Amino acid sequence: MFNFFKKKQEPAQLCFNTDIHCHVIPGIDDGSPDVETSIELIERMKSWGITRIVATPHVTQASFENTPEIMSQALNSLKEGLQSKNIEIEITHSAEYRIDEQFLAHLSEGIIVPMPSNYILVENSFIQEPWNLDQLLFDLKVKGYKPILAHPERYLYYHQKRDRYKAIHSTGTKFQVNLLSLAGHYSKDERRIALELIDNGLVDFIGTDLHNHRHADAIESFIHTREYRKIKDRIPLLNDSI
Ligand SMILES: [Fe+2]
Repeated sequence: MFNFFKKKQEPAQLCFNTDIHCHVIPGIDDGSPDVETSIELIERMKSWGITRIVATPHVTQASFENTPEIMSQALNSLKEGLQSKNIEIEITHSAEYRIDEQFLAHLSEGIIVPMPSNYILVENSFIQEPWNLDQLLFDLKVKGYKPILAHPERYLYYHQKRDRYKAIHSTGTKFQVNLLSLAGHYSKDERRIALELIDNGLVDFIGTDLHNHRHADAIESFIHTREYRKIKDRIPLLNDSI
């Protein structure tokens, strides 16, 4: 028998409208491979309430040596695809800059593409803390950039050295936690540390770090949970203020 009274599930909404970390620019990193996939991913993001995207392709030495020209060309092809399907979304790009020799070179050549408000998303190596990280973050600030450390909960070497979180954050570097970490998509340790960072008031941004449909599935399941609803009101996010 049909249940006419069954309440239709509303599409769950994110607690922010601006995503500052995702890999939806096609064909230039390990995120979306082509315009078609990018459009599908963006339509899914829109259904979660995202209205503004600052896409952040990887800029990593030896893996993804993206330049401002490469990134803006790929963004333009995506914008043409979105336009041809009448999909409206405010989309621009910056990058997820791995702290490595190439980043230092780009910095001295002045070919960094910051986010609005001069934020810059930087990523540590996953193996060890970059040498002289504190000095580099200081230098970025002196140059007028506002560094955001991407997914601090994902650097396992900090899990045993948790005082580093407070030390780095206290000098003005903002922290961006991945929604996928909170969803438990990587491991229970990353989830636990992400929650601890929230509890300690160290989280300034949440990003999707969306690369593919598998990630989108994980996010969609998570934002329907009671746990997500409990978390989302506890964080004074800066996402929509940039
Ligand atoms: Fe990323």
